[in-house]
Amino acid sequence: MTGASAGAAALHQGPRGGRFLGSLGEINRDQLGFYVRCAREYGDVVPVRLAAQRGLLIYHPDAIEEVLVTRARDFVKSPGIRFLRSLLGEGLFLSEGDLWLRQRRLMQPAFHRQRIAAYGDIMATYGARRAAGWQEGTVLDIHTEMVAVTRDIVAKTLFDADVSEEAEVIGEASHFLTEYFGKRLGSLLQLVPPWLPTPANVRMRRTVRRLDAIVSRMIGDRRRAPGERADLLSLLLAARDADDGSRMTDRQVRDEVMTLFLAGHETTAVALSWTWYLLAQHPEVDARLAAEVRAVLGGRPPAAADLPELRYADMVVKEAMRLYPPAYGIARQVARPTEVAGQPMQPGAFVIMPTWVVHRDARWFDAPEEFRPERWGGDGARGLPRFAYFPFGGGPRQCIGNGFATMEAILVLAAIAQRFRLTLAPGQSVVPAPYITLRPEPGIRVRLERR
Ligand code: HEM
Repeated sequence: MTGASAGAAALHQGPRGGRFLGSLGEINRDQLGFYVRCAREYGDVVPVRLAAQRGLLIYHPDAIEEVLVTRARDFVKSPGIRFLRSLLGEGLFLSEGDLWLRQRRLMQPAFHRQRIAAYGDIMATYGARRAAGWQEGTVLDIHTEMVAVTRDIVAKTLFDADVSEEAEVIGEASHFLTEYFGKRLGSLLQLVPPWLPTPANVRMRRTVRRLDAIVSRMIGDRRRAPGERADLLSLLLAARDADDGSRMTDRQVRDEVMTLFLAGHETTAVALSWTWYLLAQHPEVDARLAAEVRAVLGGRPPAAADLPELRYADMVVKEAMRLYPPAYGIARQVARPTEVAGQPMQPGAFVIMPTWVVHRDARWFDAPEEFRPERWGGDGARGLPRFAYFPFGGGPRQCIGNGFATMEAILVLAAIAQRFRLTLAPGQSVVPAPYITLRPEPGIRVRLERR
């Protein structure tokens, strides 16, 4: 990728697009391909129009840092993602301004390192438990498995709920909803208002109501009988504002629970699925991972305390998220007049930062298309611009679950790699599909071999 440097105030060129839809038609057909093409043809800062909206695609780490960190106050979440509000309400992912700041402060302690370490053993146990049910020689869809294991982990850490009927219902609902909302993101379906009684919209509303009923009951039960639990829900209910001592309303707790549940499992499942996909194609990496797991654990199951030793596993997950970032792009809308890469921007305009493309930029990564966990070893990451690699975003809106997710991915990976080697079943083609997260479609069929 060559092109204008981020600092240039020059007028930039971009794709013309269609008369009415601008580039929305092309995004609808092939979103990732569109981002790649624009970077190749127009450089680091690319003006685009999506139907009536105008904005910039930006690919340079310095310009991304401006949006996410230096000028973060000039932006809000993008309209494309705000339509998730009918599901996530005013939860941390979507709230803005004072409400967001108060909630972030209230919730931050629940994600401190020592706190989440307590969840590590649950993560490792659930990973091992799932692999214990697998049979040598069988073929299964590893993405389905990873969605199930991360859903069970989030249900346990969030509500202290074991895989009960309720977790199943919640899991099914979340599968439908992520697909429903995911299909709308970056597609022409965005133009269909969610209040129109189409079959999909009707089903969406019914599913949200069912989920609401379950979550409200859990909150009600817990308020009546708080007990001595260490799950995230208890922490949310007990959290008090440092200034006025107030607590969250039930409605706010509902929005946060829904947000953590949905933000917390598909993303990590996707990260793990792509990790297996890459490992299956790189036996030398898989062998090195297995050797580390053997050396660190002997034959015993992994635990949170093993994390510092599982250094290669950490590099493997990091490299998989470089090639297949679960959040394949981050977008914002301008809230007050500002500038990006020397380019003035007015309220209402959007900015899209395509992580998918930045993570594969040859200016920052040698042989960028290759899966090489070793690149993260030693001093490998030194000298990399801060926003050449940003799977969890950055600045004030950085993922609150960053440490949680990393720990979960490493421990589940270790627990499974200890027992099985995964190879790809022949005759399949897997493509990264940009829903809300970057799903492997139609799934990843793998054959299980005992170590
Ligand atoms: C590999 C897994 C994950 C990835 C790749 C990921 C990615 C991201 C990204 C890129 C953002 C920032 C979005 C933006 O700036 O617009 C974000 C925000 C967020 N994530 Fe994650 N996430 C992951 C796991 C989790 C987990 C496990 C949780 C909770 C248990 C979580 C909860 C959240 C929340 C609440 C926000 C909003 C934070 C705020 O705005 O203050 N995420 N995530």
